[in-house]
Amino acid sequence: MPESAADHSVRLDRLPQWEALAKHREQWGEVGLRELFADDPGRAERYTLTVGDLHIDYSKHLVTDETLALLRELAEVRRVAELREAMFRGEKINVTEDRAVLHTALRAPLDTVVEVDGENVVPKVHAVLNKMSVFADRVRSGAWTGHTGKRIRTVVNIGIGGSDLGPAMAYEVLRPYTARELTFRFVSNVDGADLHEAVRDLDPAETLFIIASKTFTTIETITNATSARTWLLDGLGGDTAAVAKHFVALSTNAEKVADFGIDTANMFEFWDWVGGRYSYDSAIGLSLMLAIGPDHFREMLAGFHLVDEHFRTAPPEQNAPLLLGLLGVWYGNFHDAQSHAVLPYSHYLSRFTAYLQQLDMESNGKSVDRGGERVRWQTGPVVWGTPGTNGQHAYYQLIHQGTKLIPADFIGFANPLAELGEFAGQHDLLMANFFAQTQALAFGKTPEEVRAEGVPEELVAHKTFRGNHPTTTVLAKELTPSVLGQLVALYEHKVFTQGAIWNIDSFDQWGVELGKVLAKRVEPALTEGAEVPGLDASTRALVKRYRALRGR
Ligand code: F6P
Repeated sequence: MPESAADHSVRLDRLPQWEALAKHREQWGEVGLRELFADDPGRAERYTLTVGDLHIDYSKHLVTDETLALLRELAEVRRVAELREAMFRGEKINVTEDRAVLHTALRAPLDTVVEVDGENVVPKVHAVLNKMSVFADRVRSGAWTGHTGKRIRTVVNIGIGGSDLGPAMAYEVLRPYTARELTFRFVSNVDGADLHEAVRDLDPAETLFIIASKTFTTIETITNATSARTWLLDGLGGDTAAVAKHFVALSTNAEKVADFGIDTANMFEFWDWVGGRYSYDSAIGLSLMLAIGPDHFREMLAGFHLVDEHFRTAPPEQNAPLLLGLLGVWYGNFHDAQSHAVLPYSHYLSRFTAYLQQLDMESNGKSVDRGGERVRWQTGPVVWGTPGTNGQHAYYQLIHQGTKLIPADFIGFANPLAELGEFAGQHDLLMANFFAQTQALAFGKTPEEVRAEGVPEELVAHKTFRGNHPTTTVLAKELTPSVLGQLVALYEHKVFTQGAIWNIDSFDQWGVELGKVLAKRVEPALTEGAEVPGLDASTRALVKRYRALRGR
């Protein structure tokens, strides 16, 4: 572990700061948001931060100045700031993989120096960005043509996890900025239906495949890429020279890319210090750059960088990612909240929460600490959510009146995107829902208010809203590439903060390995009926049934 990383010789739950928070929670009593607002007229203003284009209101949280001070003391004693500096400096804070964690270098200006093993990595980052830009311009202008000389009309990104969710999410978010004459598709699932549906109406002569895989060994991606190559060659008469014009690779593994048959001249590189779920601002974002163009891509990187600098330099009281991370600790560790909802009021952000699921749950879904000891406290929450108004007609009932505490983030924008204009005031209607929901969640409706509406007594309990459901409101003027970068970096550093408090390695993902290994072992049992040692009785019986249903 690097020298500067935190001292965790005292267990988190035995620290005086932790005990003080537990006591504070115990003594909280029945105080609700109605009282907190009534007692403090300046609350809304004081509990609001502005970071770049993001206006962040955290006043509707079950916290007081004392709660926030105690949480900041916890961050201090857990040395979150020291670990943050170690990350930015390029120290190997991913202890179980002995790797630096430097997604922040992917958006650092060219004159920044960030060294890994004595080498400044920033010039390499910009060299790849430039290579991506040249390629993107050629495809977008039609200068890059396919094997038969036709220009590229469709781009299919094949990848999974971090090599899919980031570009697929960002493509949806930034659709209004995309070259509409090009079509983009994202294939991730090893279920052949995914690739089939993606290519069934395409002309191979006009299709470019981007094979995105950090390791270039991921079975789902390599299987889909192999099928795509067969589809392409079948469609173009079998000349393998076509591969060079229709396949490019995004990877850290040049050897495997070459083994697959893609010329490494058509490979866009990144490095082992970029985690998969932190990678869509690296070469992994090539499909996005093809869609929105290099200038918008760089605007997005500038948005990321703005929040990186904020996280690095803002004092704790004004540090938004730190604060959001600490609020999550307050609910997860002291209020038994098990999940966290992210509810965007923008259709373009429809895949944003799915992206955050990997970012947060693969990072902080851990139950041993950085030293391998079992943790005695809750770690990362279940992250979930879909665009707001749709959720209102589905699961908001449970958030409002169920028995669970579900802290939620509401993300909305003042202006609809320019090209939409104002369809019959739809945007104001959308945002009226946005504001109404956070108000209803926070302040509810008392039995007295319900009675005053003339509701019969037997329905009063049913129509009462307890309130006190905590929310953060993030409001920005408009959804731009920079704002997207700012939002993603905000969540990245929130996740970082929580991992530092809990003393877990937020940058490995050993938990996904077991399933991968077992899948490889089970496959011959399905295809050949092979006897697989170690298969449990239930799985053995299911495999037998599967083979019978397949007629084997
Ligand atoms: O799910 C495990 C994982 O390793 C993710 O962390 C990663 O984003 C994904 O698989 C894809 O990996 P690769 O980019 O190496 O194909």
